[in-house]
Amino acid sequence: MYIAEHEWSAPRTAILPTDAEAGRNLSRSAGEGRIRALYRRLAEGDWDDAGRAEAAQFLREQLAAAGTPDALPESPQDLTAWMQANAQAVAANYSIYLEQRAGGAPRRYFGNRAHALHFLRSVAPTKLVDGAWLYGLLPHWRNGRFDDLVRTYVEELGEGAADKNHVLLYRKLLVRYGLDPLDDLSDELHVQGLVQLALACNAEDFLPEVIGFNLGYEQLPLHLLISAYELNELGLDPYYFTLHVTVDNCDSGHAMRACKAVLETLPRIGDASDYWRRIRAGARLADAGAGTGAVIAGFDIEAEVVRILANKSGAGRGAHSDYCQVAGRKVNDWLSQPQQVPAFLAALQQAGWIKLGAPVEQSRFWGLLQGERAEMFGVFSSYELQVIHDWIRGDAASDGQPFAEHEAPAGRSRRPTFRAQAKLAAARGQAAPVAAGDDAGMLDPDLQALCEQLPRLADERQMQLLVQAMSPAQHWTPAGLHATRLFWERVRS
Ligand SMILES: [Fe+2]
Repeated sequence: MYIAEHEWSAPRTAILPTDAEAGRNLSRSAGEGRIRALYRRLAEGDWDDAGRAEAAQFLREQLAAAGTPDALPESPQDLTAWMQANAQAVAANYSIYLEQRAGGAPRRYFGNRAHALHFLRSVAPTKLVDGAWLYGLLPHWRNGRFDDLVRTYVEELGEGAADKNHVLLYRKLLVRYGLDPLDDLSDELHVQGLVQLALACNAEDFLPEVIGFNLGYEQLPLHLLISAYELNELGLDPYYFTLHVTVDNCDSGHAMRACKAVLETLPRIGDASDYWRRIRAGARLADAGAGTGAVIAGFDIEAEVVRILANKSGAGRGAHSDYCQVAGRKVNDWLSQPQQVPAFLAALQQAGWIKLGAPVEQSRFWGLLQGERAEMFGVFSSYELQVIHDWIRGDAASDGQPFAEHEAPAGRSRRPTFRAQAKLAAARGQAAPVAAGDDAGMLDPDLQALCEQLPRLADERQMQLLVQAMSPAQHWTPAGLHATRLFWERVRS
């Protein structure tokens, strides 16, 4: 599907520089779904000229909407000091957070387990293209001035190891907690991921912005530390987040290399001041779209329950017998239109099928969803069950209890963290096997094609094929991982 430039829609683009563009923006307000559509197209590797032009226009609009003030120093020579000051401020704020928690303060981010899972689902469009903004520099790997950036990209890809590839780790997280499908996530939640993909496929025209984006995005933020801490506390795997705490470090990690890359790529012959201005503009794109704070604050558990049930209503409206009635009305009738879900939920509460604020076992409705004789067993994903569970329990759900566990025995106020559970599983010999680094023997059509084609190609064409297989659409697949390992071996040799 081709999307005309004037049809772009993004909440951040409400402020545009000219009246004509402002008017155009108003006409876009009904265009929900278009950012998501282009995101998907680019994420799937469909980078035709029209798509790239649309992505470039999107970037220009995001740059215009981002405004001018930023926290960067006036001179790029001060970047290292700026980065270190930022890292110190984050460390100081994190230690305050830890002190507050040790003193009995509640979790700052996630009110319950469903809230944390909702966050993981909402930020998925960004995490599933992690590192993409640097991909456009990969074909230029011979330019030594890009060494730090190429290395950063390869590290985002885990250097080709399945258990270190950031995108693959996030994909596994989504499966593990039943967080997909992601089809109905809003345009706003796709803005940041689309910025990254748009930079990936337009690096030649937006080189300073790519370098600036990398600078802004790779600084260690406080929210990463707190998210990791609270996910672990809730028994959820924090590895994707803790991994970034270590790779983004300001000593030798991505944050330091992002600063070095700016200094290494500043023009010696061209206009360095204009280049620096564009780098700063690119850095502001790191804040495009819904940020961590907004996503967390935007969680409305009742609205999420309604969304979940409305999505099921299509399949459920013919699945109940005429004997299934609530408030004198057949369940099939209630489910005939998704917009009736709030009234249906109210009727279920009035009829006593759902008892809000009480243990879930007291709600007959819950007994239909979960348990040994649940008639609707398997209808809802584990994430959806957790949302319904926490909604029914209300304030009590702040204990972070998973839906499948029985109520904690009296006197046991804390449940084990994710790390404690992992240690216990390892001690019992139940730990998941570490993914093998070499998956060359894995059955996969692209991996087979790659292995067949490579020996027949000259060196230069081989590198081109490897770069192609390392695109955001493919690098997490067996062929992409294999290509990453070969590419990195050759670049370093
Ligand atoms: Fe990453």
